[in-house]
Amino acid sequence: MTKNVWLKITCTGAVVAAVFVYTSMSNTTHVKADSDGDPRVQIGFSVAPVPLNLDDKKPELVGLGSYLVNVAGDCNGCHSAGPMTEYLNGHNPYFLHQKKQLNPATYLGGGRDFGALIPNSAHIISRNLTHDWTGRPEGGNTFHQFKLIIRTGVDLDHRHPNCTGAPNANCIPAPFNGNLLQIMPWPNFQDLSDYDLRAIYEYLRAVPCIQGNDPAEPAHRCG
Ligand code: HEC
Repeated sequence: MTKNVWLKITCTGAVVAAVFVYTSMSNTTHVKADSDGDPRVQIGFSVAPVPLNLDDKKPELVGLGSYLVNVAGDCNGCHSAGPMTEYLNGHNPYFLHQKKQLNPATYLGGGRDFGALIPNSAHIISRNLTHDWTGRPEGGNTFHQFKLIIRTGVDLDHRHPNCTGAPNANCIPAPFNGNLLQIMPWPNFQDLSDYDLRAIYEYLRAVPCIQGNDPAEPAHRCG
């Protein structure tokens, strides 16, 4: 065997080995991102402030969902009843010498009033994200509907259509689009992956139903 041929064989071997190592590495990363190996799953479970119902759910999705809802997305910052009741008494981290503890009685129950976008028009009020008597989150939305809401911002409940005359408490004026959710950061969340949206949805199915503070919710929504 000439020196040249030997060199060629060795190089080919090295390339094959490199490709093999690369492939197995990327496989490992992929598997890890989708299972308990993802550290966010564990963090998600440790920060969830309410008992979770894992029946018929994949724990790795619920854990990741908790991470996205509680750590990355701060959904409860807006979807609780407001800053005064977001934390338990004596556990407001913004106060002196207090350690944070979220208030389960308002957790994701909605009803925070962000006021009117312009005077005399409809108040923008966060919605109850916990599941209702149907077992589905935010007023019975299927995963398909939930994905549509987050990807497009569409308000399937039509809470505040555009005003046709003078602004009143049930409509919002142009230039705001009455068909779309206002204040809700859907323009950010719309680029989350399908997997992450599924995780958020599964987490919302797992948290306990509460009546919440949104005046437009039906009475006895938990059944
Ligand atoms: C900055 C405040 C804010 C944050 C953060 C926020 N939301 Fe919202 N969200 C709102 C408001 C306000 C509404 C209602 C908007 C309206 O009526 O125009 C809303 C509406 C929604 C709706 C529509 C509910 C329905 O029944 O149609 C969903 C779903 C939703 N939010 C999910 C989430 C999730 C999930 C997160 C976290 C990943 C989140 N939101 C974070 C303010 C917020």
